[in-house]
Amino acid sequence: MNTSQREPLDEIVLDGAAPAPLTEPESVRLQREAHERKHTLAQVGRMMGDLHILRCKRDAAYKALARAHQETLFRLALVGSLRRGEDGQRILRIGALSALLARAAGCPMEWCELIYQAAPLHDVGYGATGADASSLPEGESHVRLGAMLLGGTDLPVLKLAAEIAITHHERWDGSGFPHCLSRGAIPLSGRIVGLVDHFDSLPGFNVGVEMASDALVRSQLTSSVGSSFDPTLVEQLSEIVPKARTMRAFLSSQAIGYHDPGWDTDWWSVF
Ligand SMILES: [Fe+2]
Repeated sequence: MNTSQREPLDEIVLDGAAPAPLTEPESVRLQREAHERKHTLAQVGRMMGDLHILRCKRDAAYKALARAHQETLFRLALVGSLRRGEDGQRILRIGALSALLARAAGCPMEWCELIYQAAPLHDVGYGATGADASSLPEGESHVRLGAMLLGGTDLPVLKLAAEIAITHHERWDGSGFPHCLSRGAIPLSGRIVGLVDHFDSLPGFNVGVEMASDALVRSQLTSSVGSSFDPTLVEQLSEIVPKARTMRAFLSSQAIGYHDPGWDTDWWSVF
């Protein structure tokens, strides 16, 4: 029989037995499996590429969101600064000094970064004074208005900022305001920012690195605090005076006006 007369394979019956199963030639099977592997690998490659693009887009969106958040906080803090004729230098110093002191006090880095962002808002209430609480003394109205502006949220940075706003004028000996809290009843954040706010206004710290010595700034600090501030924090701040002055000199060398420089929230930790 020539090949054109062959019966179809699935119709061949040998002596009444069941039709033999068709087997794929080994070479064809290997070729098919290799093709399938190649196809699968190409699909996995495309999926990996797509995932990489999605991850890049997600990271970029996260960065943009974090940047917008940071810049907004900075500009909100400027409201109080502008009212007092100050620019962005002072609020950045207050943030960085608070973070440096928190670090020296042994606080976790995550909290130090949080207080770096929250502390510049301590005087934001000055931006609203005169608008509402005119019956209160100016000092007291700015802490109450600041807490009102920043409070009532569960965002950690604003919760901390509100706590600082209402407590940064409380004093260790109970002579502060608005609640005459004393000692440990004052939250650590308020004790830190209250002390840093005072330290930043010391004449020796203000004239810059070249015009004063660490010893002079330390003596101004210890002689000026009296019983107003947490003595442990005063000691810890005294120990980081050189770092604080180097940080201040660095900030002074930067052209910072009314724009957040966009630095990472731990830039101060290099000092
Ligand atoms: Fe204040």
